[in-house]
Amino acid sequence: MSNFDYDVLVIGAGPGGYVAAIRAAQLGLKTACAEGRETLGGTCLNVGCIPSKAMLHASEYFDAAANGAMAEMGIDVTPKLNLDKMHAQRIDAVGGLTKGIEFLFKKNKVDWKKGYATFIDAHTVEVGGEKITAKEVVIATGSSVTPLPGVEVDNSKFVVVDSTGALELPKVPKKMVVIGGGVIGLELGSVWRRLGAEVTVVEFLDQLLPGMDMDIRKEAAKIFKKQGMELKLSTKVTGCTVKGKKATLTLEPAAGGAAETLEADCVLVAIGRKPNTDGLGLDKIGLEVNQRGQIEIDHEFRTAVDGVRAVGDCVPGPMLAHKAEDEGIAVAEWIAGQTGIVNHDVIPGVVYTWPEIAGVGLTEEAAKERGDIKTSKFPMMANSRAKTNHEPDGFVKVIADAETDRVLGVWCIASVAGTMIAQAAQAMEFGATSEDIAYTCHAHPTHSEAIKEAAMGVLGKPIHM
Ligand code: FAD
Ligand code: NAI
Repeated sequence: MSNFDYDVLVIGAGPGGYVAAIRAAQLGLKTACAEGRETLGGTCLNVGCIPSKAMLHASEYFDAAANGAMAEMGIDVTPKLNLDKMHAQRIDAVGGLTKGIEFLFKKNKVDWKKGYATFIDAHTVEVGGEKITAKEVVIATGSSVTPLPGVEVDNSKFVVVDSTGALELPKVPKKMVVIGGGVIGLELGSVWRRLGAEVTVVEFLDQLLPGMDMDIRKEAAKIFKKQGMELKLSTKVTGCTVKGKKATLTLEPAAGGAAETLEADCVLVAIGRKPNTDGLGLDKIGLEVNQRGQIEIDHEFRTAVDGVRAVGDCVPGPMLAHKAEDEGIAVAEWIAGQTGIVNHDVIPGVVYTWPEIAGVGLTEEAAKERGDIKTSKFPMMANSRAKTNHEPDGFVKVIADAETDRVLGVWCIASVAGTMIAQAAQAMEFGATSEDIAYTCHAHPTHSEAIKEAAMGVLGKPIHM
């Protein structure tokens, strides 16, 4: 008989935590999950993936009607924005999905402990005044917005906001400045540009989207500029003053030089996210974080403290919901005495702009550092479905090992790149060569044929180019 209240206590009910709790319960472990928010689902369901996609999807329709894309196909419409209704469908999507997790907790008999958890010792946690003991504790506390010194966010005023504020703007700003040309800046910048804002993106580095393949980064910049976004690359923000409903930013070249000012009705700060570990009482269990504030783990997700494991945004690796979910499943399987597997080399990343931008595996730059490679690019312009759908922008790039032909990375810019990248991830998971992809029958006419053609190109034999 165990002396603990629970076999497993998970702290945090985001994609890492709620999935870990459900899988642990499915494996017969007595499980509780502590969550401080009013609703389950974490950043992803409440203020991240889901509400941003609700706004991206709706604004994409508006843009297609407003910018002539629908007219091109013989549909003449003059769209009228009902922003309140657009927000209502976002709130509805979030409500439905967060309630869905509550239902899954009940169905799987996971006890939701409401409140923010603090360690008392490695097997005891306090939540909402209750002391709970567990044989294994899983930290899945996620991440929150990295602040930018000198630029104070106040989501209640909608002048200087972070991603949460930018999801909820009550009216379309005339001029919006986005600080940070990463995933959030480009997704939420796209939403408000489509709805009518003049958007300027200020990025410290000389290209957008750090971490992605350089060809993709350059192509993305061309596409966003063509869509009307102003890009100020190699530029840093040194200060911000707010007067009433206007913000004035001071900018400087990243390498130093003459300062300039930029006025905006709304400033979005999107320069990254940091792990949530404050207030957890890690000092009580003698657990330290690394220089980036992350909790270090081994391949079984064990921290340096016996009985305490961690997953998701608060541990090293990309801050992505699907990475957190897969780690959630794997950690529960380890705890249940099984082998939990996450292949951290094959985690796809998707930017849900128009067109979408997606990649999996190594960039060309990283692959070259490892040895000789072969690459091939196939333009979406030459893909019959994309061309017919009036979606000519983008390409697919396949990177393979020069000697073994094994696929090392796949990168796409295409309207449905986020859906296309799944087949590349699956192929890589099975150790596919570019020849394997080239000789796999792909349905016609689909955007995915561009992946097949790019793979054929690695062998020097694309058909439609
Ligand atoms: P989180 O989702 O952050 O959940 C952690 C939870 O723990 C939170 O609910 C928090 O309240 C709770 N918590 C923290 N401390 C305590 C405590 N002491 N006690 C109890 N509870 C606590 N990723 C994608 O893959 N695709 C996307 O499209 C995407 N879009 C995004 C859009 C935006 C605007 C943002 C901000 C993020 C987006 N992400 C996306 C990233 C994604 O949301 C995160 O990678 C994911 O949510 C991480 O999951 P997690 O479980 O580790 O943490
Ligand atoms: P990010 O790391 O993607 O981008 C931040 C950008 O800000 C970088 O380009 C960086 O160079 C730049 N930057 C940093 N400091 C700066 C400064 N002082 N001035 C100007 N630019 C500066 O971070 P972002 O966009 O905030 O997103 C956070 C996390 O959320 C990401 O890690 C991402 O994985 C996740 N996310 C994922 C999404 C998806 O999967 N579609 C969508 C949104 C977020």
